[in-house]
Amino acid sequence: MSEKDLQIKVIDQVGGTHELPALSGWRVMEIIRDHDLPIRAECGGSGACATCHVYVDAQFVSKLVPPDEDEQYMLDSVEGFDATRSRLSCQILMRDDLDGLVVTLAPGSEPS
Ligand code: FES
Repeated sequence: MSEKDLQIKVIDQVGGTHELPALSGWRVMEIIRDHDLPIRAECGGSGACATCHVYVDAQFVSKLVPPDEDEQYMLDSVEGFDATRSRLSCQILMRDDLDGLVVTLAPGSEPS
């Protein structure tokens, strides 16, 4: 059985749009990083830095597993926090029903 071809769309910090192939089970941060887009993600995905902060497009927000307590704690202190759309991209696991997911890299996610 072949895996379904998935895609995400990433809008970078200067408004550039990038359509990236994605695999189910991968963290959205890993997909962004592995395609050499500018994401700091300095803790490597352990949820401890918040430098992978993204805004999730409104149409996908309700499809995501809500942030757990630890993610919410980190989000509460990020630059540009948006109560509806802010997420840590390392905590979003790609799934088939998230095909076409759109995220925007948030302030503070730029590599230093
Ligand atoms: S990579 Fe550090 S919190 Fe996501």
